[in-house]
Amino acid sequence: MLKLALVLHILGASVWTGGHLVLSLTVLPRALRHRDPDVIRNFEEGYERIGLPSLAIQIVTGLWLAHRLMPTWADWFSFTTIASTHVALKLLLLLLTVALALHARLRIIPRLSERTLPMLAWHVIAVTVLAVLFVLVGVGFRTGGLL
Ligand code: HEM
Repeated sequence: MLKLALVLHILGASVWTGGHLVLSLTVLPRALRHRDPDVIRNFEEGYERIGLPSLAIQIVTGLWLAHRLMPTWADWFSFTTIASTHVALKLLLLLLTVALALHARLRIIPRLSERTLPMLAWHVIAVTVLAVLFVLVGVGFRTGGLL
């Protein structure tokens, strides 16, 4: 079960973090250069079908992996060990990612235009930075911490 959870977690990470790096570093600059929100809409239409399921997989496998490391939920926020600190950091990154994604979906994307494109750009960059931090924190579990 551990191998399956880790394989799914790493595949999900590849789709979520990899997809956002492609969006931020190749699609977004083109959309901003041409001031064309459709460049992002076209990318999102395809990516969304695997992006959101991969985030769901990260949450399910991540909670399972965290529970395997620390079966007592209360320990998750104790900040007394590398594992507890990293799990709390993961949950904080998840909260920020969901908050940004909901704000973009409910407030920005319905009104997406050339004028609101810069606001969406900041959201995309912020979610991408959080996605990379998820990977750094994840690797930190096995390598004795983030730094
Ligand atoms: C998009 C979100 C996420 C990404 C990109 C991500 C990425 C990663 C990566 C790359 C690893 C290292 C795997 C390895 O060492 O082989 C990892 C490990 C881990 N992640 Fe995540 N993760 C995400 C969300 C979560 C969430 C929401 C949790 C829940 C608390 C979580 C909990 C864990 C745990 C506990 C480990 C250590 C597994 C172990 O070594 O036993 N992750 N993560």
